[in-house]
Amino acid sequence: MTFPNRIAIQPMEGADADIMGSPTDQTKSRYLGYAEGCAGIIWFEACSIGFHQSRTHNKMLVINEENLPEFKILVADVKRRSEDTLSEIGLEGKAALIIQLSHAGRYRVERSPASPAMAYRFPVLDEAFGIT
Ligand SMILES: Cc1cc2nc3c(=O)[nH]c(=O)nc-3n(C[C@H](O)[C@H](O)[C@H](O)COP(=O)(O)O)c2cc1C
Repeated sequence: MTFPNRIAIQPMEGADADIMGSPTDQTKSRYLGYAEGCAGIIWFEACSIGFHQSRTHNKMLVINEENLPEFKILVADVKRRSEDTLSEIGLEGKAALIIQLSHAGRYRVERSPASPAMAYRFPVLDEAFGIT
């Protein structure tokens, strides 16, 4: 894969997802802005792989079967905007899009015995987060 340039947007949570974890207008505006900035790589922020057991906070993006169409629209819009703005400065192609899929592990917002999530014990963090 050849990137249009070496400007890379690092994954950065905006904490602006809606109640279901879907991208809001604010989320979309951020990603369209990255495309308008002519980035060659746009690395989408931490996006939870589950609604209940793997989010760090309640405004985190969640990707699932239900809201997949919304993500597809976002991706198509960002690609189009990227292609348009890159061509305005004489560059071909569009930004490569990557998404960071996330499970918050010990930092997940909802915990239950049915959702064990720790790979290892870390006494300091376990104590700080009340993990027994
Ligand atoms: C508000 C904010 C949200 C961030 N969200 C993520 C994230 O979702 N995933 C991730 O891997 N890093 C995240 N980071 C870390 C950044 O991607 C980046 O690695 C970090 O800011 C260090 O880069 P810098 O030295 O250029 O600031 C976040 C950083 C900030 C400031």
